[in-house]
Amino acid sequence: MAYVVTEACIRCKYMDCVEVCPVDCFYEGESMLVINPNECIDCGVCEPECPAEAIVPDTEPGLEKWIELNAKYSAEWPNITVKGQTPADADEWKGKPGKFDQFFSPAPGKGS
Ligand code: SF4
Ligand code: F3S
Repeated sequence: MAYVVTEACIRCKYMDCVEVCPVDCFYEGESMLVINPNECIDCGVCEPECPAEAIVPDTEPGLEKWIELNAKYSAEWPNITVKGQTPADADEWKGKPGKFDQFFSPAPGKGS
């Protein structure tokens, strides 16, 4: 199993998660981060670090879309290991529903 980043990350992108991952398996898109399921060692350290509660174990039900999305984009986006600038309006988008349909971007982020 692995952990996955879900919709709650979109437009929040706090990036506290990347600083604690022992195997540096986060990848950065323009609107959110994802975890490479082949690299994640399932340590769980990142889960409580995310202020948006966007990171969950892939064993939870109903995560098919996010499991697929993390696998796909972690192979395309650049690796990120250093926390960057959180969006200025991140707190306003915390916990908002429907962010994927409106704001998900397949474009890569800058990485670090
Ligand atoms: Fe990294 Fe551990 Fe989180 Fe997997 S569960 S992404 S290895 S911190
Ligand atoms: Fe996203 Fe949470 Fe990390 S909002 S960037 S998964 S700390």
